[in-house]
Amino acid sequence: MSDFLIAPSILSADFARLGTEVDNVLEAGADVVHFDVMDNHYVPNLTIGPGVCAALRKYGITAPIDVHLMVQPVDDLIRMFIDAGASYITFHPEASGHIDRSLQLIRDGGCKAGLVFNPATGLHYMDHVMDKLDMILLMSVNPGFGGQSFIPGTLDKLREARKRINASGKDIRLEIDGGVKVENIREIAAAGADMFVAGSAIFNTEDYARTIQSMREELAR
Ligand code: DX5
Ligand code: ZN
Repeated sequence: MSDFLIAPSILSADFARLGTEVDNVLEAGADVVHFDVMDNHYVPNLTIGPGVCAALRKYGITAPIDVHLMVQPVDDLIRMFIDAGASYITFHPEASGHIDRSLQLIRDGGCKAGLVFNPATGLHYMDHVMDKLDMILLMSVNPGFGGQSFIPGTLDKLREARKRINASGKDIRLEIDGGVKVENIREIAAAGADMFVAGSAIFNTEDYARTIQSMREELAR
């Protein structure tokens, strides 16, 4: 695995052929499977739950699964995704009544824990829980749908988050989610991200390997 992780969001995959799609995107060079969970309550859309995560594990997927919870409340689903074979679990701080407890729950289950920041959510939520974070995920679109455009102001926020991570001296991934594509991945990396979710930019292309390779070439430039 390179230091930059590419995490295709299966939200844009063909759900009727999900196992094959995940196989294909991993063979194409993806590092991590990004798994978007929406509840039509925290966000205005409804997707997939722990049963689908468990089914992917049963099918034979061994790559890390990065579960992005866009649900409220969070703790019951955290428990279920731990049992379903998640590797990373992230949630939105506004959706948890007890952020520290939810992070601890994830870590106690043997998963890596992270907080997700919507475009208008302040980074202060990380201040008192740095010790419990393995990842920080910045949304560069408002959550709920794939295929939206990257919000440019996120670049400044990435730089600020990168500063805070570096100042902490901790090994915390900085993930970006929303509107990431070959054309902008380089400037997003330059602003501090080291893990890149891309849904439509990968699954809406014919040749996943070629798209992921183009992203890696941009990252290496
Ligand atoms: C949006 C989801 C994203 C989404 C990204 O709420 O969290 O992971 O699938 O899709 P693209 O890459 O198409 O913006
Ligand atoms: Zn996501």
